[in-house]
Amino acid sequence: MVDSKKIVLTGVQPTGKLHLGNLLGAVSSWERMIDEYDCLFFLADQHAITMPYVPADLRKNTLDCVAQYIACGLDPTRCKIFLQSQIIGHTELMWVLGCLTPIGQLERMTQFKDKSKKVGESVCSGLLFYPVLMAADILLYNADLVPVGEDQKQHIELTRDLAIKFNNAFSPTFTVPEPYIGSTGARIMALQSPSNKMSKSDANQNSVVYITDTDDIIRKKLMSAVTDSGNSVTYDPDNKPGIANLLNIYAATKNLSLSVAVEEFAGLSSYQPFKQAVADAVIAKIHPIRERYLQLANDKEYLYSVLHDGRLDAQKRANRMIAKVYRKSGFVNE
Ligand code: TRP
Repeated sequence: MVDSKKIVLTGVQPTGKLHLGNLLGAVSSWERMIDEYDCLFFLADQHAITMPYVPADLRKNTLDCVAQYIACGLDPTRCKIFLQSQIIGHTELMWVLGCLTPIGQLERMTQFKDKSKKVGESVCSGLLFYPVLMAADILLYNADLVPVGEDQKQHIELTRDLAIKFNNAFSPTFTVPEPYIGSTGARIMALQSPSNKMSKSDANQNSVVYITDTDDIIRKKLMSAVTDSGNSVTYDPDNKPGIANLLNIYAATKNLSLSVAVEEFAGLSSYQPFKQAVADAVIAKIHPIRERYLQLANDKEYLYSVLHDGRLDAQKRANRMIAKVYRKSGFVNE
């Protein structure tokens, strides 16, 4: 074997902006993943059209996301970055897998039920087929490990079912993937409601620090973070969730253990200087990322070259798998 490293496939929807929670959570664990595994990273732009959308926004968000991920440290010289829609094979494999998937299993998917409730009668078949496309994304590349959040675990289960079903029905073809539960990094909560996770869809946007925010905005958001009526900085997530969140943010941005972070602020009798220190730390972390992002976003040629590279590599892998699957499925190859 030339390359016996395990394959890790990460897929993300190109939905606009990355925030501090993404940066300190999943994104920060890539550094180690890239060293250890054969890492493929793609933007699921075909999944993005399962909900109502505006084409011009999709195009812009997709490139913008690529720029943001690279700015955050996803190094295109050490992993492959590509767009789902640019590879021939995802939807081809989806069809073959779809023919092995009972409709009932798709109708019972939690995400389908939740999303179709929102859209109502007009729910599209694409949304029903969403998990089959996701299974195809994963099986197409023989991924061993797939980093996903809690909400996507059910889709990985379906992927495993389909891989096993195909392997049993025809012959061993697909690697049966596992969800990757590496160190997922810090869990960052919303600044204005620290019992909820930081999320870009938060109704109160002051809860969310984006990696594209200016220094002033970051400081404003952190200084107005919800705390409590006390004045001592101690780590007590149940009774002082706001302060606990700020301590987690501080520790994660400065790469400190929580206990060292807590130590630094022991003895303070007001939250103000603590918040200033957290703001300084977050600004120090995000400022260079934002600068890099702005530079990359203006360099379309570079972004296209990264995607072109990724595309060539991914297409080669996809071609091999599709040829194998088509042969086993009984399609004539002439
Ligand atoms: N459904 C995933 C999400 O919304 C994105 C995704 C699409 C994905 N295809 C994938 C993730 C394949 C991992 C592997 O987060």
